[in-house]
Amino acid sequence: MDLGALRAEIEAAIAAADSPEALEAVRVGALGRKGRITELVKSLGALPPEERPRLGQAYNELKREIEAAIAARRGELERAALEARLARERTDVTLPARERPQGRIHPVSQVTEEIVAIFADMGFTVAEGPDVEDDWHNFEALNIPPEHPARQMQDTFYLESRDAQGQPLVLRTHTSPVQIRTMRAGKPPFRIIAPGRVYRRDYDMTHTPMFHQVEGLLIDRRTHMGHLKGCLTDFVRAFFERDDIPVRFRPSYFPFTEPSAEMDIGCRRSKDELVVGEGSDWLEILGCGMVHPKVLEAVGLDPEVWQGFAFGMGIDRVAMLKYGIPDLRTFFEGDLRWLEHYGFLPLEVPTTYGGLSR
Ligand code: PHE
Repeated sequence: MDLGALRAEIEAAIAAADSPEALEAVRVGALGRKGRITELVKSLGALPPEERPRLGQAYNELKREIEAAIAARRGELERAALEARLARERTDVTLPARERPQGRIHPVSQVTEEIVAIFADMGFTVAEGPDVEDDWHNFEALNIPPEHPARQMQDTFYLESRDAQGQPLVLRTHTSPVQIRTMRAGKPPFRIIAPGRVYRRDYDMTHTPMFHQVEGLLIDRRTHMGHLKGCLTDFVRAFFERDDIPVRFRPSYFPFTEPSAEMDIGCRRSKDELVVGEGSDWLEILGCGMVHPKVLEAVGLDPEVWQGFAFGMGIDRVAMLKYGIPDLRTFFEGDLRWLEHYGFLPLEVPTTYGGLSR
């Protein structure tokens, strides 16, 4: 048996093995249960005793050499596999990063910020009141007694709970109760706006059961209708970002103001377009008036000393007008594609000096 030739043959097979499986096949062929070296070791038993030590030593040496060669080759193959995998899975970090999904500010939030920015410039602060109101704040103190037809003007959601007077609580039908809360809680003069949610039983293209209003209230010693007109005219021109918007005040009726008016702005209507700020048509945008003496009395103010004006405007409605959104119901569907389209970028905070709607 030429051990040198056998070693050379197995070593060549080891070097030629190009995968872990091929290498394993070589190992089984040499060192496995029926491997060639194993067979040699087994054959020692049949030899004369004096030959066994020398051959036994030579076979063992061959066995160790082959084991070492296989281990070394296995290491090489593993390193090569790792290299190949790293090459395959390489990431090019110089590629442009994928754009991260970015949130949007809802048009209602945007427009609320715009309105607050404009009135803040005129010295108004923001006031708040609860969505669940009692009958007194939502109706009674605003000069709307129980059988008053104005209660039907605003289809009310009544709750099962009742207030201390046994009247059912309501979801506020307008932001006007914040007038009452503000005047009861502080001392005149007052100059506040109160944006917030309001609720009425209504549902179509331009009505949803929950929508948003902003209330305005200014009370001082010598306030008159001219202040109301000037303030609201300045407001709509700032809000629609046009200095030449035609405005008009039309006589109207609200129980809590006297006289009352509705403010219209000029617009142009064509078959499928509405342009605000020019043209010969009119569009109603808010209700307003001088605060009714009975309202002042209800909150303990002397109408001979204090007067003022109030207004209420639909935030969603002016958002639709300013940004050309046709259906109010879509505001509250939570459709991300809609928000992507009509929403505003965060961090672009509306200010009167930086531009409201950039
Ligand atoms: N509260 C009235 C409404 O919801 C709006 C309004 C507020 C009118 C203040 C006049 C003064 O229709």
